Amino acid sequence: MSTQQVIDWLDQHEEQSIERMIDWLRIPSVGTDPKHDADTAKAAQWAADHLKASGFSVELMETGDPAGSGQPIVLATTTGDDDYTGPHVLFYGHYDVQPADPIELWESAPFEPIRKAAEGEIGERIVARGACDDKGQVMMFLEAMRGWYETTGKPGGGVKYTVLLEGEEESGSVNLERFVEEHKDTLGATDVCLISDTGMLGRGKPAITYGVRGLTYLEVTLIGPDQDLHSGLWGGKVPNPINELTKVLSQLWDDKRRVTIPNFYDGVRDLTQAERDAWKELGVDPEAALRGIGLPPEASIGEDGFSFIEREWARPTCDINGIIGGYTGPGAKTVIPSKASAKLSFRLVDDQDSETIASSVIEWFKQRTPPGCKWEFQNHGGGAPATCATESEPLQAAFRAIERGCGFKPSMIKSGGSIPVAGLLKTTVGLETIFMGFGLEDDRVHSPNEKFELDCFRMGARAHAALVEELVGSDA
Ligand code: BES
Ligand code: MN
Ligand code: MN
Repeated sequence: MSTQQVIDWLDQHEEQSIERMIDWLRIPSVGTDPKHDADTAKAAQWAADHLKASGFSVELMETGDPAGSGQPIVLATTTGDDDYTGPHVLFYGHYDVQPADPIELWESAPFEPIRKAAEGEIGERIVARGACDDKGQVMMFLEAMRGWYETTGKPGGGVKYTVLLEGEEESGSVNLERFVEEHKDTLGATDVCLISDTGMLGRGKPAITYGVRGLTYLEVTLIGPDQDLHSGLWGGKVPNPINELTKVLSQLWDDKRRVTIPNFYDGVRDLTQAERDAWKELGVDPEAALRGIGLPPEASIGEDGFSFIEREWARPTCDINGIIGGYTGPGAKTVIPSKASAKLSFRLVDDQDSETIASSVIEWFKQRTPPGCKWEFQNHGGGAPATCATESEPLQAAFRAIERGCGFKPSMIKSGGSIPVAGLLKTTVGLETIFMGFGLEDDRVHSPNEKFELDCFRMGARAHAALVEELVGSDA
């Protein structure tokens, strides 16, 4: 049994691996859209079949209340001999993808994956919705498992794995909490969680992500008159919900770009000098990152006193994700709308609590109710931030596996994105998570023309292959 044999297997079978990835990407598993429920179920079945063919015992589990109203969860475990050594690993991934719209901005159909040749610094890649987030990344693990099974006949190559793939990550994992509660025994029997759904430091620069931010997502609606009104007859003498809402929204930040909600920063951990220094050492180039999204250097704005990277990795933020209201059709219409809404997201860091923040935000809006109007609030869910132990034995194994599989030592980074399952597993079953992801900043996740570069896929598959041997010899 050796990592090298599995890496050779991955090299020799790469065409088939990529074909399989493309097959999976063809299934439009848009978990949030009921129109795609059959496709989402099909994508779950596809993953179940792949795991079965690698010697796993697999179950498709219903979720939701009533049962079956949610997207299925794929739950698989290695079977066979009991001579497993090392930690029992819970691999988590998601097979649902974001909706493809705006569809007109795609250069190729989102669910007809294409393989594109390298252009400039962008390497050969697969373009499709879900190519990077998260099917392509889950595929790196699945193919590493296939490689170990094919070369040794042992499912998991001798490491005990439990695999949990969900279909609701992109819609807030609404049924996951109950699932985890109900399967506490199974999940609690594992030693560490492994997730491939994050990014690298840059091209050819693999990384371990040791923290993600949490999230609070609220929709606020301001309701004024009980009907739309002629703006000439009523404007200037009654509240216009759009005027009033936007005035309140503009008070969310002060002139230092800090969030003004009382107690918002309670519990936020200060950055240590050691961490600040380590992040500086990473050599992140803000100007290059801004250039990549069409912005000049002076666009580097955010909370006073923090660097570009600190603002993403260590500080909480507030963003308006959408504003709805009034007339948005062609031409002009002189109208005062009856109501207006905004979708607001708050990214959280340790030790902020998603529910507490939601209550403070709601209270803050209530104290600013414009005369004669009323608010409605909808909580779209959220998740806890997670900072992971960096000294644990399994994380050291992942570190060595990346070095072995990719030829480079990984950088230790954080991410501003959110993966709520990590916080959930920590609080319910006390699991630490290792984020070993291979995405790039320009992969366009959640956007048109999402891609995953084959070099990233290769590095990830090899690192997951090497991880098996590193874990077999390590302590639980
Ligand atoms: N995989 C992403 C999160 C991510 C991307 C983390 C890149 C780190 C680097 C995940 O699928 C995602 O999109 N999460 C959502 C949160 C969720 C509750 C909808 C997010 O971060 O907005
Ligand atoms: Mn993801
Ligand atoms: Mn996502």
